[in-house]
Amino acid sequence: MTEYVLPTHANALGTIFGGQVLAWIDLCAAICAQRHTGRTVITAGIDDLSFDRSILVGQVVRLRAQVTATFRTSLEILVTVHGEDATRGDVWPTVTAFVTFVAVDASMRPAQVPPLLVESPEERALAEAAAERRQRRLARRGRPERSA
Ligand SMILES: CC(C)(COP(=O)(O)OP(=O)(O)OC[C@H]1O[C@@H](n2cnc3c(N)ncnc32)[C@H](O)[C@@H]1OP(=O)(O)O)[C@@H](O)C(=O)NCCC(=O)NCCS
Repeated sequence: MTEYVLPTHANALGTIFGGQVLAWIDLCAAICAQRHTGRTVITAGIDDLSFDRSILVGQVVRLRAQVTATFRTSLEILVTVHGEDATRGDVWPTVTAFVTFVAVDASMRPAQVPPLLVESPEERALAEAAAERRQRRLARRGRPERSA
């Protein structure tokens, strides 16, 4: 997903408003999750994130989403955000986020998600790390993993 930073997207300093970036992250991840599941998805959570570099009005925001792992009714999406100065050709990393969605049926009940086909060593590493993050999320919510 590519966005152009307009004055309406900026804070008082003329740099991009963090809440706007979060909204784009959520949208980009939701499109990815819907494509994978073929269902309506609900944002369950976004892991903590930090903004490494700002993006200015007149610059470009590049967002890339990928499914890292699927579970029973939820799935984790990694969104990588880069800033771009289209006039100079510079591109820089800005923030990465892990977003968890729950797929729902027509009655808004959680519904099973299709498995993810993990092929490369990089995809396998992402999926293993996602499983560890899930354990930490469940532990924080006081809901340890149920056996399958
Ligand atoms: C997300 C939501 C649907 C989960 O409903 P629930 O009744 O807790 O459902 P369950 O306990 O059966 O959990 C369903 C799945 O969601 C996951 N989940 C629930 N809350 C989660 C959270 N905060 N973070 C990550 N995963 C979460 C569970 O691990 C489970 O995944 P699994 O089936 O793959 O194991 C519900 O909490 C909700 O509707 N929240 C509001 C979401 C919303 O309004 N988002 C819009 C942005 S404000």
